[in-house]
Amino acid sequence: MSDMLALRNPLFVALDTNDLRTARAWAHELGSLVGGIKLGLEFFSAHGAAGVRAVMGADAPPVFLDLKFHDIPNTVAGAVRAVAPLAPHILNVHAAGGRAMMRAALDAAGEEAARLGLPRPKVIAVTVLTSLDDPDMQTTGVASPVFDQVRRLAALTLDAGLDGVVCSPREVAVLRADLGGEAMLITPGVRPDDAPTQDQKRVTTPAQALRSGATHLVIGRPITGAANPAEAARRILADLDGLAGDKDPRA
Ligand code: C5P
Repeated sequence: MSDMLALRNPLFVALDTNDLRTARAWAHELGSLVGGIKLGLEFFSAHGAAGVRAVMGADAPPVFLDLKFHDIPNTVAGAVRAVAPLAPHILNVHAAGGRAMMRAALDAAGEEAARLGLPRPKVIAVTVLTSLDDPDMQTTGVASPVFDQVRRLAALTLDAGLDGVVCSPREVAVLRADLGGEAMLITPGVRPDDAPTQDQKRVTTPAQALRSGATHLVIGRPITGAANPAEAARRILADLDGLAGDKDPRA
């Protein structure tokens, strides 16, 4: 992990929009405050690699490219190679794609970054989407509770050599204990005390998430939906002051 640039802080702001001008404006306003920006499927489906480059611009902080790849190993490896020139700090896959697929993603990220003379992106996996509960999983043939499946897939992810997982605040403490000190644990569903929870059901505050063992926080609407996004980001970061040191997994 020490081969990567250290992040300014553990806060990644989710720029969830399909509008390029809006994403650029948020990146411009927040880029010098946050540790990184997260661009996901909505934005990428609308604007592709050119859109990511347009948002990254001059001063943008590191990018978490949240495309959640899930396909056969050869196809996922190709997709990882295709986005490698964007030099994302973090990219992700679905752990449900299996060990060989995750390994193919990691190997492709390493080989292509080396070929391009770039640092290898951190490769992490989504375990079980937080939109799924026990009955949903049962309809897909997974009989064990979601929490057990999350732990199983997180262990498989680390065993495949990946850098960490995306997890809900509810899972972070147990996964930290399961996976040890090195794993990146990236937590959405984080809300400052005074913010509405919106559609996030299992929320915790930014400081609680870090204390439980999260290494990175993904926060969207409490920042981008605020009347003054920069001020909202500053308030969250002030709450983290003293907790947001530069421990290695955050790098
Ligand atoms: O606006 P909000 O803070 O809820 O945004 C959270 C971000 O994290 C969104 O981009 C959402 O897609 C993402 N995310 C999530 N839950 C997951 C995985 C990703 O909310 N399990």
